[in-house]
Amino acid sequence: MNNVLFKPVRLGPYTLEHRIAMAPLTRMRSEQPGSQPGELMATYYDQRASQGGFIVSEATVVAPTGDGYLGSPGIYADAQIPGWKRVVDAVHAKGGVIFLQLYHAGRQSHVDMQPDGSLPVAPSVVDGYEGVAYTKNGWVPASPHRALAEAEVVGMVEQFRLAAERGKQAGFDGVEIHGANGYLIDQFLQDGSNQRSDRYGGSIENRARFLLEITRAAISVWGKERVGVRLGPSGSFGGMHDSDPEALFTYVAAELDALGIAYLHLIEPRVLGNAEDASKDQNPLAARMLRKVFHGTLVAAGGFKPETAASLVEEGTADLVAFGRYFISNPDLPARIAQGWPLADYDRDTFYGGTAVGYTDYPAYAAATA
Ligand code: FNR
Repeated sequence: MNNVLFKPVRLGPYTLEHRIAMAPLTRMRSEQPGSQPGELMATYYDQRASQGGFIVSEATVVAPTGDGYLGSPGIYADAQIPGWKRVVDAVHAKGGVIFLQLYHAGRQSHVDMQPDGSLPVAPSVVDGYEGVAYTKNGWVPASPHRALAEAEVVGMVEQFRLAAERGKQAGFDGVEIHGANGYLIDQFLQDGSNQRSDRYGGSIENRARFLLEITRAAISVWGKERVGVRLGPSGSFGGMHDSDPEALFTYVAAELDALGIAYLHLIEPRVLGNAEDASKDQNPLAARMLRKVFHGTLVAAGGFKPETAASLVEEGTADLVAFGRYFISNPDLPARIAQGWPLADYDRDTFYGGTAVGYTDYPAYAAATA
């Protein structure tokens, strides 16, 4: 196999046999109440695991205030650990490596998703923000939010640390901190959503503090070799914007480089959250630019096809490429790419929530043609 995607690569202490990673994908099929993974989720990850293949779990809620999509799994309670252990064991049985994506929705939530019906939390209250949440009433506009007090921000870092610890108890191989797509960490990073005047707002250094403290907290649990960070420097999903994204993300990538994390996971331009973005006003920043300041393993995601993924790795811009939507509809995606088999199309209508339909019923190629 001379396809560069099948050249082994190191990720922290792990040796991956191929460079086709499964991107984190919110599917909202955890068991309710309790938001713990059940048998269905274990089957889904099992189907997508491969020998020496890398999987990032779907965004997993680190604190009871962090849920924005009913059905997202959590890691804020010990009772959620056994369900995750089943997922991890299934992936390990296939020889795969799986990291847990740690996430807090911040203002992309709704009072119906919050403990005691209180307001969702954010760095700042910003007028004109229009987000969405998924509640028992389906997709609804995000409700008004409130700004976290400084002591609460410190407490939130601790919630991320505890979540990282539970992830370890569940047997994951590491954690990925979700700093993209307009959720809480991204809300702190970008000045369109962070208007604080304490040490978590204002300068780039201050706005990056929350992410960097969380990263250090995760490292205190896992060691730097088993912690990754995901950033979306070009994304506007969740009402994100910044007055100088190039300076912001260059600073953040350089700081993460200094911390020596296992990898940096970047969402490329052209993708708006979970769909193509045809608008021309995106900042054309991502792997190609941040490669200059981040020297560790780089994972790129966003709108890739097997051929474009191979060229990005070939030119040295990324070490791995994560596929999202094609991994939904092709559980055996690495094998299909290896063999040159055609890729199945995905059905958007079953992305979020529901049953096994559009989740565990996409067949592997051999089965499809048998
Ligand atoms: C996503 N994406 C995403 N990103 C993330 O960091 N955490 C998550 O939980 C999710 N959830 C999610 C759900 C669904 C249904 C989609 C389609 C996307 C973004 C995803 O990881 C990836 O960046 C994009 O899908 C772009 O890659 P593709 O799909 O073009 O390969």
